[in-house]
Amino acid sequence: RARQIIPYKAKVVEPIALLPYEERVRRIEACGNNLFRLASQDVYIDLVTDSGTGALSAAQMGRMMIGDEAYAGSRSFFEMERQIRETMGYRYTIPVHQGRAAERVLDFVLIKKHMIVPGNSHFDTTKAHIEFAGGRAIDCTIDAGRSSTGYHPFKGDVDLAKLESVIREYGPRHVAYILMTVTCNSGGGQPVSMENIREVRRIADQYGLLVILDAARFAENAWFIKHREPGYATKTIHEIVAEMCSYTDAAIMSAKKDALVPMGGFIAVRDDLLYERLKAPTILFEGFYTYGGMSGADMEALAQGLREVTEEPYLTYRIGQVKRFGELLSAAGVPLVEPLGGHAVFIDARRFFTNVPEDEFPAQLLCVELYKEGGVRAVEVGSVLIGRDPDTGENIRPNLDLCRITIPRRVYTMEHLEYVADVVRTVHEEKGQRMRHGLRFEVEAPGIRHFASTFRYV
Ligand code: F0G
Repeated sequence: RARQIIPYKAKVVEPIALLPYEERVRRIEACGNNLFRLASQDVYIDLVTDSGTGALSAAQMGRMMIGDEAYAGSRSFFEMERQIRETMGYRYTIPVHQGRAAERVLDFVLIKKHMIVPGNSHFDTTKAHIEFAGGRAIDCTIDAGRSSTGYHPFKGDVDLAKLESVIREYGPRHVAYILMTVTCNSGGGQPVSMENIREVRRIADQYGLLVILDAARFAENAWFIKHREPGYATKTIHEIVAEMCSYTDAAIMSAKKDALVPMGGFIAVRDDLLYERLKAPTILFEGFYTYGGMSGADMEALAQGLREVTEEPYLTYRIGQVKRFGELLSAAGVPLVEPLGGHAVFIDARRFFTNVPEDEFPAQLLCVELYKEGGVRAVEVGSVLIGRDPDTGENIRPNLDLCRITIPRRVYTMEHLEYVADVVRTVHEEKGQRMRHGLRFEVEAPGIRHFASTFRYV
């Protein structure tokens, strides 16, 4: 019989409280209906991100006590480097303070003006850093990955024909590197198959190109390979991770996800020449190349986190929890991006609020309504996030207008998530069809408008 096994129990707890309804309405209005502006103590269940929000284990806390805070050559740095080599196989590691810092350092070295970075659903900061360095991100995700409906086991896969035609069109000299994002956050936490990574490597070799892994959720990706890809069911997560990484030249990592730490990241590389070139910008932007913005304690916790995140019972529970939560919503008729991914459930807000005009930010509206109904904080991944076309100044209308309900690692129990499902169900039943209008900008913050803008009900 398949029983659900939770491979940990709480040892330290943090109190949370639900404000009364009127108070929630008052506070979200005071924040201009933007959930990023809320104080976290005003939130009951915080599902804005899975980044840096996981619970540390007792073993991680223990290792943090022996962190070596030496400026150069810290013992904790060597421990982290050794663990990355053991888990992922890369010879050299450069710590950085988080994922986007890895992007900045790597792009500073690899991207020259007008170069391109083909890949699969580049994350926002990843794309922005590529552009900041003078390059262009070209999304080569398969067509199935662009649709919120229909089952495909690996919606994060790269369209190999498209990749090759892009390389030919621009010429290999103008390709800075190929980026493989595992799993695809922007695409709903969709995984990438081993076969696809292997094929991308083959194409890269043909044109003499580097393959870089955005490894933020590498362990979750490995779990999907084990459970969905023929030939991998009997392999261990360690074997699968090692094989995934073996097809790539380097990894950039936001350790706030699949290294189970509140803060940290790294660039891990195979080649000693590339390693040498990364050192100077790291010193400039992040700190000396054996700490790069991380403390010794952080580096110990990261090393231990890598050991824990690749344990199969952990991953089975983690991805199973997201799935069970998604199934509760589906059963209530809430329209979701399919299939369910690894770290979050994405609600298709245009199908949720069937009568709210697309220009009135249905996904942002849904986030606000969820907070009012139950003190739940989700995040908009849609029109507000994507912004305006830099040439025309018009609002870009994205393919999908989504509300992401992101599950932190090891933090919430199924009971918390049952509560959240009940909140979503209530909003769906009471307002899904009834609401005819959404939100409009009160103050639209320039540039990255997601975080600071304020909204009014239409
Ligand atoms: N790559 C992916 C796939 C990500 O999801 C993120 C962050 C980054 C890179 C950047 O890492 O935040 O450590 O600088 N995603 C977070 C999220 C912010 O909420 O999805 P970072």
